[in-house]
Amino acid sequence: MKKQVCIIGGGPAGLLLGHLLTQEGVDCVVLERRTGDYVLGRIRAGVLEQVTVDLMKRLGLDERMKAEGLPHDGFNLADGERLIRIDIKELTGKEVMVYGQTELTRDLMEASAGRGLEVIYGAEDVELHDIDGANPHVTFTKDGSPRRVNCRFIAGCDGFHGPSRQAIPASVGKDFERVYPFGWLGILADVPPCNHELIYANHERGFALASMRSNTRSRYYIDVPLTEKIEDWSDERIWDELAIRLGPEAAAHITRGPSIEKSIAPLRSYVYAPMRHGSLLLCGDSAHIVPPTGAKGLNLAASDVYYAAEALSAFFGKNDADGIAAYSDKALARVWKSERFSWSLTRLMHRFPEDGDFERAMQVAELDYIASSRAAQTSIAENYVGLPV
Ligand code: FAD
Ligand code: DHB
Repeated sequence: MKKQVCIIGGGPAGLLLGHLLTQEGVDCVVLERRTGDYVLGRIRAGVLEQVTVDLMKRLGLDERMKAEGLPHDGFNLADGERLIRIDIKELTGKEVMVYGQTELTRDLMEASAGRGLEVIYGAEDVELHDIDGANPHVTFTKDGSPRRVNCRFIAGCDGFHGPSRQAIPASVGKDFERVYPFGWLGILADVPPCNHELIYANHERGFALASMRSNTRSRYYIDVPLTEKIEDWSDERIWDELAIRLGPEAAAHITRGPSIEKSIAPLRSYVYAPMRHGSLLLCGDSAHIVPPTGAKGLNLAASDVYYAAEALSAFFGKNDADGIAAYSDKALARVWKSERFSWSLTRLMHRFPEDGDFERAMQVAELDYIASSRAAQTSIAENYVGLPV
């Protein structure tokens, strides 16, 4: 098959890019290794920045988000007994949208056939070829038969473990990585949230986050050593730990219920640069990972896609290659700022095993400063709602 752009990966980055390019008249196909149901079964992000909401609006796919999403104008940092509210609306004029990655992906998936965006699920053994030049191609197998896509560009939207980044010769790029000594254990349950806003808590027993998907569905996280196994965490044990770490005020309002999903995700900061090599553009988790503290991962995927869609549309619509040449620098400028924010919020809100009294005193001092300074709160708020694209 011949396409202008072959997109590898049908997660949020790949589907968003596919829709934006289709809207601009660029002919593309999305190759996804898994089934649609499998992709929808992965419970991940829950907080969307304005940039992500705006892309859905531009596509005219924001109806359900407007009806079911929860706009939030603040969130809280908890330190022992104290709750520090960051009033993001008052400080920045903007808000964030609580709407699950699963729902956003579902909206994109359900609209693809009607809009002429071809998504091939169950595409196995995907390999990239000739990415250095102007005539790359992608091979894969579908139902046991070999297939091939000839194209002008490949968009690598295949997540951290996908084949796109690995297709770039080792001499070309550089990895930047920080692995953290803990993971987030998440629980999803059909119970009302304990608070109408998110709470990120730094307790002496560790980190906790109270989040939600709706007024009847809660999402909570605690940090655990990487050696922990999910089988050792009964629902009751998780609820007990959350009640301690979130503090007595929130604990009094926790409604317990059976988990509908629970899993442990490792935390990592990672950047691969450059984000383009020849005819291959990397978008989203294929090029970078942030620790989830601060809710930046999906939103960074969305801003990469914004720049990539602009560059590819100009290339095919106006024969203008400047956007392609500038893509990596533009995307990375925003990526590094989100990496910094996610890393610093992770540092502030978690107890690291190697930390001593001094490091803890620094956390307390920083939280004190944030509690008392509008400037510090504004800095956190503008990063949380998302820096401009
Ligand atoms: P992915 O979602 O990983 O999608 C990549 C796709 O490529 C997958 O569907 C995969 O099956 C496919 N693929 C892989 N290999 C191949 C192959 N060989 N061939 C074909 N297809 C392939 N982000 C936020 O912004 N806000 C949050 O609140 C937030 N919370 C999070 C909480 C948790 C617990 C976790 C784990 C992550 C969270 N994130 C959050 C991060 C966010 O989920 C990711 O950044 C986001 O999924 C990135 O999207 P993506 O499309 O780049 O990658
Ligand atoms: C959620 C995840 C995050 O990483 C975060 O910072 C806030 C909310 C969530 O899954 O709801």
